Amino acid sequence: MVDPLAHVPGDRGWPLVGHTLMFVRDARGLTERNRQRYGDVYRMRVLGREGITFLTPQATREVFLDPGKVLSSEQGWSNTIGDLFRNGLMLRDFDDHHRHRRVMQQAFSRAALAGYVDAIHDVTDRHLRDLPDGDVDVYLLMKRLTLDIAAEVFVGVSLGAESERVNRAFADAVAASITPLRVPLPGTPWRRGLRGRAELVRVFGDLVAARRREAEPRTDLLSRLAHATTDDGELLPVDDVVDHMVFLMLAAHDTTTSTLAVLLWQLALHPAEQDRVADEVRALDGAPVTPADHGDLVHTTRAMQEALRLSPPVPFSPRRATADLEITGVHVPAGTGVSVSSLMLHRHPDWWTRPDAFDPDRFAPGREEHKQHSHLFVPFGGGAHLCIGNHVAEVMVKAIVARLLATRRVTADPRAGVVISPIPIPKPKGPMLLTVR
Ligand code: HEM
Repeated sequence: MVDPLAHVPGDRGWPLVGHTLMFVRDARGLTERNRQRYGDVYRMRVLGREGITFLTPQATREVFLDPGKVLSSEQGWSNTIGDLFRNGLMLRDFDDHHRHRRVMQQAFSRAALAGYVDAIHDVTDRHLRDLPDGDVDVYLLMKRLTLDIAAEVFVGVSLGAESERVNRAFADAVAASITPLRVPLPGTPWRRGLRGRAELVRVFGDLVAARRREAEPRTDLLSRLAHATTDDGELLPVDDVVDHMVFLMLAAHDTTTSTLAVLLWQLALHPAEQDRVADEVRALDGAPVTPADHGDLVHTTRAMQEALRLSPPVPFSPRRATADLEITGVHVPAGTGVSVSSLMLHRHPDWWTRPDAFDPDRFAPGREEHKQHSHLFVPFGGGAHLCIGNHVAEVMVKAIVARLLATRRVTADPRAGVVISPIPIPKPKGPMLLTVR
């Protein structure tokens, strides 16, 4: 049989599974080894898909912008999260995606965002008030905090007793996304993931129906979405709103958790950087962080960018070609998977000085390493699927860091040897202990 990717460097991995097991075990190591062996363009076979990985900013630009509208995000993501988060915005393409994105945009407008700011600070203050001095697992702390924020800001309820169940349901659905065995046998991650999804659909289904019955729309994201209309003035079907909410909670929750955990961990290991951030957030004098403040919070912004560079919450963006095309001159036959990777791009030695070091000043005027190419630093993606929640994420991360470091100091043991597993969304392999004083 003719090999349609014979012109692309690389190997086909192990029989049947290809590179799946190596990828799941050590995505960064595998990608780095491939880069050293084959260069910035190589073939891979993961979860039954034959594809090409591109590691240059120019290819990343061509993939995100997709001028010919031939790269399907739905087909790219479907073999990992398709069954678990179906019909979410990232699992829609072209005109259908555009139509849904326009409706959802109503819940992410400037006015809507301004309405979320107070709730983000209120929940944060409540959590941090009760936080005793001493050791704490920063990943777990941030996970609880961001879930509570998501519940109150996005869903408009305090999940209370349901919080643990919803948290579990998400964790199961996310873990299932990279499991190689996709048969719902008892006790398997896949079965737990599908059950998690069913639980989320039940919770959100009840909530959407209740919101539609209310005469006065509230200001939380779910209510805005439940009452948002298409260009024809129609409400979205309830199932669509539920699917969007399930996906949104995924997109919003683990991504901000991981950013905050990595950022606070790095600031704990780099006291001088922490001092600069602390001085700046103390100057806010208790005022809430708003999108308008971002220009003033220069050190906080750079530290956040550096956390997103080192540990991007969405490490790979997969697509699938629906027609033949060329990407940076490489022929991509229809049906081929295409992947770009912020994980590798953000530490590519051709572009960054000391790529593994935490060095927020690389984003400062005079250096601005990220500006060497429009698509070198892409934590929020780009093009039609650019993260719709990037401003919400920025406010959330900065508000939590500001509220914590205005009154407390965090330290960590540099010998703790924390290892972060980068896929599907970065997560420490063991405890990530900080001491808070
Ligand atoms: C630091 C936090 C976050 C990061 C790094 C992040 C990153 C990303 C990236 C890279 C994509 C595009 C993936 C691709 O093109 O394949 C994306 C899409 C998306 N994100 Fe985020 N995200 C974050 C937080 C959020 C939040 C807080 C929300 C919602 C409140 C959100 C909602 C979404 C949605 C709905 C999409 C799909 C957009 C579309 O397909 O049109 N994200 N995100």
